[in-house]
Amino acid sequence: MLWLSLVLVITGLGVNGQSAQAASATITNGTNWTDTAGNPIQANSGNILKVGATYYWYGEHATNGKFDKVNVYTSTDLKNWTFGNSILTKNSATELNSSKIERPKVIYNATTKKYILWAHYENGSDYSLARVAVATSDTPDGNFTYKGSFRPLDYESRDMTVFVDTDNKAYLITASRQNNGGANNSMAIFRLTDDYTGVASLVGWVFEGAYREAPAVVKKGSKYYLFTSQASGWYPNQGGYATASSITGTWSALSPFGDPSAYATQIHSIATITGSAGTSYIYMGDRWNPLNLSDHKFIWLPLTLNDSNSTATLNWYSSWNIDAATGTVSLPTLTNHALGKPATAISTASSSATSNANDGNAQTSWAAASATWPAWWQVDLGAAKKISEVDISWFMYKGSEAYYKYKIEYSTDGINYTTIDRTTNTTYGFTTDAVSFTARYVRINMVNAVLHNNPNNWYTPTLHEVRLMGS
Ligand code: DGJ
Repeated sequence: MLWLSLVLVITGLGVNGQSAQAASATITNGTNWTDTAGNPIQANSGNILKVGATYYWYGEHATNGKFDKVNVYTSTDLKNWTFGNSILTKNSATELNSSKIERPKVIYNATTKKYILWAHYENGSDYSLARVAVATSDTPDGNFTYKGSFRPLDYESRDMTVFVDTDNKAYLITASRQNNGGANNSMAIFRLTDDYTGVASLVGWVFEGAYREAPAVVKKGSKYYLFTSQASGWYPNQGGYATASSITGTWSALSPFGDPSAYATQIHSIATITGSAGTSYIYMGDRWNPLNLSDHKFIWLPLTLNDSNSTATLNWYSSWNIDAATGTVSLPTLTNHALGKPATAISTASSSATSNANDGNAQTSWAAASATWPAWWQVDLGAAKKISEVDISWFMYKGSEAYYKYKIEYSTDGINYTTIDRTTNTTYGFTTDAVSFTARYVRINMVNAVLHNNPNNWYTPTLHEVRLMGS
């Protein structure tokens, strides 16, 4: 396993003086994850279900834009994932031979003792059918029996999730179409039938006219959190969440989470990990590469749900630890040396400030005074600091995203600079670079931005946040 290493953490001494040990797994983001046999994990946009002491991780695998299979992997430590089965394949039913199956989710019905798979179903070439597909199994990793595809109560349904509440009522939350508006203009919440294999009723609408996709629901205590993305194809965008005291609403207004690209991800699920010492939440995101969909990465981040004010916080960690036995998360002890330090730039638009790019708030931004490239922004750390990671949240413009060609330039005297060339970057929205240097001055040299739907770069150089992480 390259992507995770087992770390034995001494968690403390017991009253009798014996040491207690817990296995803590390191989640490493941005790398290619492999299963225990060394094969790439193929489980996009799915979910995690716990059965007994075992976690089942479901997700889809497509080839050339068409559904191939829904896979399941198992683990007890959230670290070592063993391939279990392809629970649904393009050969499971005729209508799956050449189709799309996206965002598969498996839930368990305690009354029927069945495992039920819900997914977004489309023909193999476009997104016009707007259906859900359902399949069932007696075991979590069996060959699921395909039940067919349909529009819930004749409403369109695209990006979707299913959620089982603590009272065992289950719901379909889906990007739909309301009042003859545009595709995905509003999200619909449907109550499922008691056996979870059908749709019983339309509960209501949420985010009406807001064009939200990628729903994911989690409940903590008596609060429900509904996370979504904007709609921009396979490009990342600013995620937002709403809260409610009931799954049926009323839902709050949307608040942003993460940075303007949700750290270059699109959410698909939140895993609830309960252990002997508490419960933690894992944000499960897809980092799609819109330029090459087979180049996909799983991004898992610790998600903090704050009870006091019902807010959610998602920060970036290139690596972090989770202990499945205790249910606890431990975070790296790196310092952001750029935070709040004096910053300068080639120019600054009157509506922004250089400090906006290192104020710890990814919603604010520094922008240059004109759309002239290259451009630079620099921070003075006050003294030479050892930097091991450079995280940059770039400007995103929904539907006209760009990736940024840039250079990281650093200096101890402000005169002589050394350059790390990142003009080969093609990641949209958020970049994280492992580096190793000691410097007082760090300059982000924005060489160019490459827009996906416009060959001419009309962007004004803009930075949302620069974090210079080090010891
Ligand atoms: C955005 C959705 O969130 C994805 O699941 C996928 O359907 C893409 N659109 C397709 O462009």
